[in-house]
Amino acid sequence: MSVLVTGGTGFIGSHTVVELQEAGYDVVVIDNLSNSSEKSLERVEEITGKPVKFYKIDIRDREGLNEVFAKEPDIDSCIHFAGLKAVGESVEKPWEYYENNISGTLVLLDVMKKHGVKNIIFSSSCTVYGDPDKVPVTEDTPKKWATNPYGSTKSMQETIFADIQHADPEWNIVLLRYFNPIGAHPSGRMGEDPNGIPLNLMPYITQVAVGKLPFLRVFGNDFPTHDGTGVRDYIHVVDLAKGHVKALERIKANCGLAVYNLGTGTGYSVLDIVKSFEEATGVNIPYKIMDRRPGDIAENYSDPSKAEREMGWKAEKGIKEMCEDSWRWQKNNPNGYAD
Ligand code: NAD
Ligand code: UFG
Repeated sequence: MSVLVTGGTGFIGSHTVVELQEAGYDVVVIDNLSNSSEKSLERVEEITGKPVKFYKIDIRDREGLNEVFAKEPDIDSCIHFAGLKAVGESVEKPWEYYENNISGTLVLLDVMKKHGVKNIIFSSSCTVYGDPDKVPVTEDTPKKWATNPYGSTKSMQETIFADIQHADPEWNIVLLRYFNPIGAHPSGRMGEDPNGIPLNLMPYITQVAVGKLPFLRVFGNDFPTHDGTGVRDYIHVVDLAKGHVKALERIKANCGLAVYNLGTGTGYSVLDIVKSFEEATGVNIPYKIMDRRPGDIAENYSDPSKAEREMGWKAEKGIKEMCEDSWRWQKNNPNGYAD
């Protein structure tokens, strides 16, 4: 049987395709390439030695999706990564975010149902916890209203999935709440390839390291954390990818609706990450302390124990490997997949 991966040419999707193939799954990828390159799949094939079936379509394209399901009758589950994900852009373009992420998911679910496929894993985010009252957060930590349209789409999509599964218990749905994915495939052949100037911390650091940006801007050093800079739960993208393979096993066991945090359970500050990167790579990262970035919270990190208890999944890679692998990718591919 095969797995439909939406958004499978993107950062997390492409790493997940590697892990799926290595676990013996057949994979069908769909993506509209709005934020990615098909070259990522060439690299997947290079690593796994197995071809990846790819259809360039949009998840909002009902007819196109129907055709994929008709041509690929072995699809029995879906991992749904496709979506727009830039927090700041979502504030500027809320309609585009709701339309792409919400309408796209509704079309996908409808077409899946039509073809009798009722198994799906969804890329949610720790953003659904907002600014939590207490850390670490468990899956039972109350959700809070998001401060930006991107975050709202994740919360709304979770609600849609839960309601659909409640109405029709034949659905098996796993909501995976990712913390902060960084790192890259250890081969140095695949990694994160953001458009323009990176918004997230690790790709910004690696571009400073490779000389494309002059210094890191540290957004605030007056948060109530151990050194005043923001604390997050960084997780290696390969560990995250493996979490999806484990989630498929939950689906096979007819889990109904299940929700898991995917994080390491350890929080690192911005300055901890700078220091870890310098130690792991030997490259100096100049930085300047700037004002806080609007909407940033002081700290968030996970209690990932439910995923270990119920899925047998635990992050294995530490911060050193995350930094080494991010750097190997950036150093070997200074212009990402455009090289
Ligand atoms: P990404 O942008 O690299 O991957 C998303 C992919 O979806 C891209 O390849 C893009 O071209 C595709 N896509 C977007 N809209 C589409 C549409 N309408 N039809 C078909 N394809 C479409 O992002 P990523 O970091 O790999 O994130 C994957 C998923 O994980 C997203 O849903 C994101 O919101 C979620 N997530 C990411 C993070 C993170 O920090 N990277 C954190 C939490 C959750
Ligand atoms: N930071 C800097 N300088 C930078 C970039 C980031 O100091 O140039 C700091 C931020 O202030 C924050 C930390 O580094 O303290 C991490 O920032 P990221 O932008 O890498 O990640 P966020 O935690 O802000 O956001 C990420 C995803 C969002 C998602 C959110 C919660 O990018 O999509 O996690 O899941 F909504």
